[in-house]
Amino acid sequence: MNSYLVRLGVIGTGRRAAMVKSWLQADKRARLVAAADPNPANLKRFRDLIGQEVPIAESTDWHELLERDDVDAVAIITPDFTHDEIAVAALQAGKAVYCEKPMAITVEGCDRMLEAAQETGKLLFIGHNMRYMPIFQTMKEIVESGVIGEIKAVWVRHFVSWGGYYYYHDWHGLRRNITSLLLQKGSHDIDMIHWITGRYGEKVAAFGNLSYFGGDRDNQLQCLDCPEQRSCREAKLEPGALCAFRQEIDVEDNMSMLIQLEGGIIANYSECHFAPDYHRNYTFIGTEGRLENSELEGKVWVWTRRSGTYRELTDRTYTLKSSFPGGTSHQDADRLIFIDFLDALLEGKKPVADPVDARMAVAVGCAGAESMRSGGKVVNVQPLPLPSMRR
Ligand SMILES: NC(=O)c1ccc[n+]([C@@H]2O[C@H](COP(=O)([O-])OP(=O)(O)OC[C@H]3O[C@@H](n4cnc5c(N)ncnc54)[C@H](O)[C@@H]3O)[C@@H](O)[C@H]2O)c1
Repeated sequence: MNSYLVRLGVIGTGRRAAMVKSWLQADKRARLVAAADPNPANLKRFRDLIGQEVPIAESTDWHELLERDDVDAVAIITPDFTHDEIAVAALQAGKAVYCEKPMAITVEGCDRMLEAAQETGKLLFIGHNMRYMPIFQTMKEIVESGVIGEIKAVWVRHFVSWGGYYYYHDWHGLRRNITSLLLQKGSHDIDMIHWITGRYGEKVAAFGNLSYFGGDRDNQLQCLDCPEQRSCREAKLEPGALCAFRQEIDVEDNMSMLIQLEGGIIANYSECHFAPDYHRNYTFIGTEGRLENSELEGKVWVWTRRSGTYRELTDRTYTLKSSFPGGTSHQDADRLIFIDFLDALLEGKKPVADPVDARMAVAVGCAGAESMRSGGKVVNVQPLPLPSMRR
């Protein structure tokens, strides 16, 4: 591989692949050479969006992309249920891999990916972009400073106002494609809980329902053909968008999970997909204080307990910067994560996102799905195949 230039292939050119444009603008060490997607219309839209002067090789079959000698690294931006198969094949073809989260939809799929990375020695990087968001980096730094003491409790509430738009009009609405929204959406938050506390979940108990979406509508019904499209608050007037109240939908839209983490920390995590507002609200309670964020207000607060000593700290408020250079999505995390990927690939830097942690987020989500589908029974999280894999 040319050590100054990564020749990139993109597999999956749907909605999320739009970030590749900001990647290429952000870091000139990478050049796009190929793209694969079974949907020619998406390939064309991607090509137009990127607007690259040098043409890219296009294919409707990702196997063909992996056969190319002029591809050093691939970005896998396909539906969740395809990640493990494509990533393992890519690693075995000698490519470095950037794979979107969730890592896979089963723990076994994640372990196959880790094993392939170990066997081939190729970089496996999972796109947990929240690790690059300033608001969560701030929270992690505060915890690591020791100001709130030893963490004992974590409470996370995830209000998803875009639940219908993003998750119930297409493949996301089915268990067979995502296992559960505890992976598709929740893997971000579970990873944050693990990352900020430095502890993995050991056992969970969860309840969840399909409280709002799903229903009795025909599985083929599309919003654009629906006679109720003008009055339906979930109508998505885009080609191919299926009804969010169709019969086949089976992933819960309303769930709460208790997680017992290593060291006896108790975390609770709630996710609701029909909230009016979009907001992730996190609280960490330690022996010395409490930390909380508001994504909506761009604030992080720290309250400290009275110390009873000569060292008495003041409570603090942190304010998120209002703009970011480059201004890409997710508080600029989508740009920063790609730079970290290239640094890991070209300079051997240890990346902020970690594939073993990504596997553990899937493992907790899978345990949560099993628990809520069996009446809330306690389910042990599948441990890593080898304890030495832990970072
Ligand atoms: N990190 C984040 O913040 C974030 C945000 C959104 C999506 N994502 C992830 O990105 C991935 C893609 O999501 P999306 O919203 O773009 O979905 P999408 O449905 O808009 O796009 C998926 C694309 O993959 C293509 N595809 C399907 N099967 C394929 C295959 N076998 N080989 C190649 N291409 C295939 C589809 O034709 C489509 O173009 C998901 O895993 C999702 O979790 C991550």
